[in-house]
Amino acid sequence: VVAPLDASRLKIERATTLKPIPAPGSYSFGDIHTDHMLVCKYHPSTGWSAPEIKPYGPLAIDPSSNCLQYASNVFEGMKAVLNPEGKPCMFRPRDNMKRLLTSAKRMALPAFDPEALLTCISTLVTLESRWIPSLPDHRNSSLYIRPTMVGTKASIKVGASDEALLYAIVTPVGPYFPVQKIGGVSLLAVSEHVRSWPGGTGGFKLGLNYSPGFVPQQAAAALGYDQVLWLLDEDKKITEAGAMNFFAVAERDDGGITIVTPPTDGTILPGITRDATLVLLREHAKNPSANLLNVPFPPNVQIEERPLTVNELAAWAAKGQLLECFGTGTAVLVVAIDRIGDFDVSDDFEDTGSAVSEIKEKKRKMREITLKGGLVGLGPVG
Ligand code: COI
Repeated sequence: VVAPLDASRLKIERATTLKPIPAPGSYSFGDIHTDHMLVCKYHPSTGWSAPEIKPYGPLAIDPSSNCLQYASNVFEGMKAVLNPEGKPCMFRPRDNMKRLLTSAKRMALPAFDPEALLTCISTLVTLESRWIPSLPDHRNSSLYIRPTMVGTKASIKVGASDEALLYAIVTPVGPYFPVQKIGGVSLLAVSEHVRSWPGGTGGFKLGLNYSPGFVPQQAAAALGYDQVLWLLDEDKKITEAGAMNFFAVAERDDGGITIVTPPTDGTILPGITRDATLVLLREHAKNPSANLLNVPFPPNVQIEERPLTVNELAAWAAKGQLLECFGTGTAVLVVAIDRIGDFDVSDDFEDTGSAVSEIKEKKRKMREITLKGGLVGLGPVG
């Protein structure tokens, strides 16, 4: 009998000693491990094991595991905060469960009942609720939840893993970027590396969408930029910024405002914060006087999901019409972007053979897109 994932079989083994909770602000994103984790295993002959919440600790993985060899790793990012009554609340968690299932299917990993997983995760969050930074003292802080599923079939044969480990860990987090970045992060537009492409996996939350970005991220940092602005195709369509969805705000010739974000055409992660942002912006645009976002919001706003190129940003900036850009994501919430560097890729770079001179050369051939800023005020939340 192949058992479904069944939250009623959840077993809880509590940690015998609980860890001290570090002061908010004393750690960076993702470094803190709490007391417990959720673990569940899938085997094709027996199905899902009884889910277990147990003390946080290392997992035993066979060195031949499909996930270690072929990166069959999918994950989610979710957040829990305490509501004014002190009760843990998760932000749109069903959307994350649905997306995790979509990612698992794309990776040919076994399916699971998303409601059952959510029940188990809710139990974990409740058990770990002392780790949730309390609002409103710690705005921008929350308990970040990382559900993860990995293929554990112990074979180096290239093919789908019919065994899997589904687990969830939680970690208290403050702002993703250091406080000095509250005024905005800088982006370097990159064309020689692409994050995603038509028919690729950019629209799913797979571990392998992120790790190839580490080298370009390091290169951007060497040039003084915080994150990479991912482009696609000759026309330099913007896909994402670092691990965030991207929005641009421009003033139109008629004095109105247009807010553009690239469409979820398979090259873009369908971000839940992206969606929440679009929902709020559209509501706001319908009825600006309601002041839903609690910021001065101009009338005559258009919200567009459509391809957006870095050249369009540059053209707006040249006319002083690029008001702001911002990134959205579960980890970052909403973060302002203060400048964008863009190589003129029509110029051929000579291979100078030295990293330093290459960087200098690149800098020389770069244009900076500066943002007029501040008008819409959708910058950092907090
Ligand atoms: C998130 O925003 O939650 C993400 O998953 C992006 C990154 C931290 C991997």
